[in-house]
Amino acid sequence: MKNTVTTFLQAKQEGKKLSMLTAYDYSTAKLINDSGVNAILVGDSLGNVILGYEDTVSVTMEDMIHHGRAVSKGAKDALLVIDMPFMSYQTSVYDAVKNAGRLMKEGRANAVKLEGGRKICPQVEAVVSAGIPVMGHLGLTPQSINALGGHKVQGKTEQSARQLIDDALALEKAGAFAVVLECVPASLAEFISKKLTVPTIGIGAGAGCDGQVLVYQDMLGMFSDYVPKFVKQFANVGEIMAKAFADYDSEVKSGAFPTEDKSYSIDEAVMDKIKADFAD
Ligand code: KIV
Repeated sequence: MKNTVTTFLQAKQEGKKLSMLTAYDYSTAKLINDSGVNAILVGDSLGNVILGYEDTVSVTMEDMIHHGRAVSKGAKDALLVIDMPFMSYQTSVYDAVKNAGRLMKEGRANAVKLEGGRKICPQVEAVVSAGIPVMGHLGLTPQSINALGGHKVQGKTEQSARQLIDDALALEKAGAFAVVLECVPASLAEFISKKLTVPTIGIGAGAGCDGQVLVYQDMLGMFSDYVPKFVKQFANVGEIMAKAFADYDSEVKSGAFPTEDKSYSIDEAVMDKIKADFAD
């Protein structure tokens, strides 16, 4: 059955945990969808794990639409959330509604995710009013990496913790149906989760959140440029892939691959005739 924003709100009311993973292509989305995960996020982390950028700031609307559309084909049951990229909503309420609309119409999103708190609440309200569900994102917000001064845990001081709480409450009031909390101390994330009536989805925010999200390359050991402390590797697929690629390389070079059972045949009489015709 299709997961919707109602599924998310119901899970919160019933105290059921929610799961979300990122995906950027059709075949991965299908595998994740069929595993029963509630939501698939086409994160702008695609800038890091797919496009090889150092950060997410260069990711474009076209990137998000291109990958979102591919993932939508595989996300039959999972709620499809697509990130609004840097500068697609910070600039104005008009830009936010227009670009959220594009992610829905062209990328086939069921919901969009925006980074930021009170400052972007006018955008959140307008996008929600346009009939587009919004997931908020607080704490470490990678699009602001230059302003934050790096990948740092957020909300560790009294002042910044209070600001995070205010931002979360403001997002809920503006109409967000869920809020991602990234790199936030566990007890603060738990406190925020208890204060909100909408679910929190944690990433590096402890077990007190209403759900969890991870980048799939991180949890499968496929991305080694930077592995945050909060990542649990559920399988070392990266190692399996590296071995398979090396085996393929050596079998091609030694002639061990392809074998006859991986090849197609033709009637030998036909081949004999062709060879005779081509004979000098
Ligand atoms: O872009 C992304 O993958 C994200 C998650 C880390 C929450 O925003």
